[in-house]
Amino acid sequence: MRNSVILAALAAAGLVAGTAQAQELAYSQVERGRYLVTAGNCAACHTDMENDGTPFAGGRGLDTPFGVIYSRNLTPDEETGIGLWSRDDFYRAMNEGVNREGQQLYPAFPYTYFTIMPREDVDAVYDYLRTLEPVRAEIPENELPLPLRFRPAVAGWKMLFFEDREFVPDPAQSDAWNRGRYLVDGPTHCGACHTGKNLLGGDREAEYLRGGTLENWFAPNIRGGENGGLAQWEIGDIVEFLRDGRARHTAPMQRMGEVVGLSTQHMTQEDLEAIAIYLKSLNDEPPQAADPITEDRVAAGRSIFFDECAACHAADGSGVPYIFAPLDGSNKLTAEDPSTVIRIILEGAQAVPTEAALGPLAMPAFDWKLSDEQIADVVSYLRQAWSNNAIAVSASDVADMRSYLEEH
Ligand code: HEC
Ligand code: HEC
Ligand code: HEC
Repeated sequence: MRNSVILAALAAAGLVAGTAQAQELAYSQVERGRYLVTAGNCAACHTDMENDGTPFAGGRGLDTPFGVIYSRNLTPDEETGIGLWSRDDFYRAMNEGVNREGQQLYPAFPYTYFTIMPREDVDAVYDYLRTLEPVRAEIPENELPLPLRFRPAVAGWKMLFFEDREFVPDPAQSDAWNRGRYLVDGPTHCGACHTGKNLLGGDREAEYLRGGTLENWFAPNIRGGENGGLAQWEIGDIVEFLRDGRARHTAPMQRMGEVVGLSTQHMTQEDLEAIAIYLKSLNDEPPQAADPITEDRVAAGRSIFFDECAACHAADGSGVPYIFAPLDGSNKLTAEDPSTVIRIILEGAQAVPTEAALGPLAMPAFDWKLSDEQIADVVSYLRQAWSNNAIAVSASDVADMRSYLEEH
């Protein structure tokens, strides 16, 4: 966006004094806000991508376990957007999850993370959003059952699962580690997907970054210390994954593809390193050894693997790093919840294109070729092949996913 447009918008909002110095300051404030909006990936949720909606004009339906909640219009339109919102109104929404009318907001809006953002960061986000073109966009009604349809119900939820927290740096840790923790727990809200939830959708503290399920994808364990899901990843691997959308181990698809494509690839190297440094400091419990599958099942799974998969993923599961994901040591493959691997095999997967890696990279779909039983066999075999050790999956797990995908 051109400097002059931003300044004109800010001037209209009464924020810019006439001096060049003040203009410079206001400009950098808007730039800071733009960066935080990118880190927070506001556009992913606040754009109705399915219907080619205007960026930030809202209307994307988020499929939660409780029903569909539609994101709202963040452009400064006075009737349907946040045009009439003051800085205080906006801060209250980001910090406490309450809208301009004082109504409760659903935590599908990740204010449970944004709450740790300091006032100056939230103000910068507000200043950036004010520079957007106002767009009129009516938001559909949420599709929620009673009593959740009533916003006051959220107040009870908040008493249990929400705390208006500040970010407190840990003086024993480096600046980079603290920056990483701030980004992960605040603006980039990695835990919104990667932390396990309880039945009411609250974060389970003991499951912090140990993996979580959303829209039938499993976002795996991303703790990088001993026994963590990213234990085999170096700091540089995590940075590559978030910056280029390619790493030796895997590439981001679908929801993580949105995170990388719209958000992390545009973040600074320094911030990505900070995230990686922080994740690498998180150790985990050793996983439980899985009961071995029967010889018959090993034979059945192995033969499917050699017929259908080994051409790309290599006979020893080492794949072709950066191209065909290695299956030996794959965190997605051995995740406790096999949703992601089952759906990748059923419907295929496409790595997100990024500025650094434009080339399409795709895993073919096998839903038309392999039965539920065969997919369960090959996945169970792979989950215990080479250094992998995870419990078997059943044909009914595959059948459930197949019917979910047929409906969606
Ligand atoms: C994971 C999806 C998601 C992300 C990411 C997200 N939002 Fe939202 N946001 C929502 C949803 C859904 C709602 C509607 C909540 C409701 O109706 O109670 C919402 C509501 C809001 C509201 C209240 C608007 C109103 O009219 O009531 C504001 C303000 C807001 N978001 C700002 C942001 C900003 C700024 C960012 C990025 C820093 C962001 N959101 C990122 C999903 C998201
Ligand atoms: C909107 C939900 C969502 C958010 C937010 C999110 N992730 Fe993910 N992430 C996923 C899903 C789903 C997967 C599994 C599918 C895939 O890899 O594309 C994943 C996969 C990953 C992987 C690959 C792990 C592996 O071993 O295959 C890494 C690393 C990762 N995410 C890191 C992060 C970090 C760091 C953040 C915060 C900056 C983050 N994610 C935020 C949903 C999310
Ligand atoms: C034509 C080559 C090709 C074939 C054949 C193929 N795959 Fe893949 N597979 C890929 C590519 C490419 C990716 C990475 C896709 C991405 O990241 O979006 C992938 C990813 C995966 C992953 C995710 C691993 C990770 O950590 O990212 C699993 C699991 C997997 N494949 C299993 C299988 C199985 C099982 C078969 C046989 C039934 C198979 N693949 C056949 C190319 C192939």
